[in-house]
Order: sequence, then structure tokens, then C-alpha cells
Amino acid sequence: MMRLQDKVAVITGGGSGIGRAASLLFAAEGARVVVVDYQGVYGRAVGQETADEIKNQGGEAIYVETDLGVDEQVAAMVRRAVEEYGRIDVLFNNASHGYSSPLTMTTLLDTPEHDWNEVIKNNLNSIFFCTKYCQPEMAKAGGGSIINTGSSNALVAVPGADAYTAAKGGVVSLTRIMAMTYAPDIRVNCICPGAVRTPMITTMLEMLEDYLIQNIPLQRVAEPEEIARVALFLASDESSYVTGAIIPVDGGWTTL
Ligand SMILES: NC(=O)c1ccc[n+]([C@@H]2O[C@H](COP(=O)([O-])OP(=O)(O)OC[C@H]3O[C@@H](n4cnc5c(N)ncnc54)[C@H](O)[C@@H]3O)[C@@H](O)[C@H]2O)c1
Repeated sequence: MMRLQDKVAVITGGGSGIGRAASLLFAAEGARVVVVDYQGVYGRAVGQETADEIKNQGGEAIYVETDLGVDEQVAAMVRRAVEEYGRIDVLFNNASHGYSSPLTMTTLLDTPEHDWNEVIKNNLNSIFFCTKYCQPEMAKAGGGSIINTGSSNALVAVPGADAYTAAKGGVVSLTRIMAMTYAPDIRVNCICPGAVRTPMITTMLEMLEDYLIQNIPLQRVAEPEEIARVALFLASDESSYVTGAIIPVDGGWTTL
């Protein structure tokens, strides 16, 4: 029996990095995957590439191009998902501009209001909109699992990405209130990755990997599949008594 047999999973940011790894893994575990992404970061339909890869491997997936910062586009994405697969069981709120956007790399006093709003929109509003439209569908399906994506930045201060850090802190708090509100039928948890080898931080790793790993007890950065496997655990019934949990997946970095 596969761990997500007959489940429908909406995975945001499924075109790249952690979201791509989770989309492939969830599909291999039997899920029908709704890959949600757009062209605003990488300039091409990376989500379509993931959906095609899943189908080439014999799995089921659709790509729904959506700017997750826009309420109406998210509403349309959820309608499309339900039209295609009839239900939603899992929502992995994973997408973010994060460090792939120069807007993220500023301190508070250097952040224009517009940039602040963009970072909050891409990291926090996106979760608000996806949850607002997916939760009723998950309730209709009898329950499910929502996985939010925070960051080590939400747990320890990392100077120089101030709006992003605030947004990710918001994701942690939002997770707790969502877990209370949607219990007992829907579980809500948050993964806080440390440094993960994805396109988002390619440039940073080229410059800083040796320095970064000095502060990571496991002495390396993560591969995206290592985060995806934790998301799979949270999505599946194996985590049936886990809700409201904030889970660092950072090689021990935030224990220092
Ligand atoms: N890579 C890391 O080191 C790291 C560390 C901590 C937290 N995270 C978090 O993990 C998550 C995944 O990051 P990743 O490293 O896989 O990044 P990534 O850039 O490889 O993938 C993110 C995907 O999200 C999509 N996306 C971003 N904004 C979007 C929007 N408004 N609408 C639709 N799609 C959108 C991008 O197009 C991209 O395909 C993010 O929430 C990120 O903040 C990553």
C-alpha cells in the first residue's frame, strides 16, 4: 500500500527545489498531484515540467499556473483542482520567492514599503489564500493535512533578510492557529528548513557554502528530497497524532 494512495495533493511551488522533489515523491506514493507554480521567478513554466515528469513516470498530475499572491487566481486554481480530481486531501504550502528575489536581501531600514509588501504577499498571503480555498474542500473530503513552510530564519535571527524573516515568523504563528482552528479533522504542521540545495540559494551556496556548513552540526546542506520526505510523513497517516508542530529540518543548525 502506498502512503498517499487515492489522496489528492496540492503542492505550491511544485516547479522547483523542495516543491518539485515533494511533487515527485508524493506522486510515487500514489497521490494525484496538483502542481502549482508560475513563471515569475524562473521565467518558464517549471511546474509544467514537473507535471510532465510525473506523467512520464506513470503518475498522475496537472499543472495549474497561478500567482499565489493573487486571491482570485488561487480561487480559480482550487476550482480547477476539484474539477479535475474531485477532492483535496493534502495542501503543501511551499512556494516562496525567498532568496531567489533581491527583495528578500535587505535590512528593515533599507526596505521600501513596496518591497516589504511583496515579500509578505509571496510568503504569507499565499498561504492565507491557499488555505482559505482548500480548507473547505478538505473538510468536504473528510479531513486532511496542511503543511506550511517556514524557515530557520523564523527560529533564529539572520540579519539581512528582515521582511522574509518576519513573514516566516508569521508562517509559524499562523500554523499554530490553523492547527487549533481546523482540528480535529485537518492537521496543520510547519517545516522549517535550514540551507537546502535548490535553485533559490544556488548563488548563495557558490559564495558561502564552506562558511555555512561550519555552523551546521551535520556539516552539509540538505538535498531537497530530505525536506520532501518530512513533508511526506506529515502528509500521510503515519503522522496521525501530529498537529501544530513546528519542525526544524536543518541539520541541527538552530540548536547551536
Ligand atoms: N532552499 C533553502 O535553503 C530554504 C531554506 C529555508 C526555507 N526554504 C523555503 O522552502 C520553500 C521552497 O524553497 P526552494 O528552495 O525549493 O525554492 P525554489 O525557488 O527552488 O522553488 C520555489 C518555487 O516557488 C514558486 N513561486 C514563488 N512565488 C510564487 C508565486 N507567487 N506564485 C506561484 N509560484 C511561486 C517559484 O516559481 C519556484 O518554482 C520556500 O518556502 C522557502 O522559503 C528554503
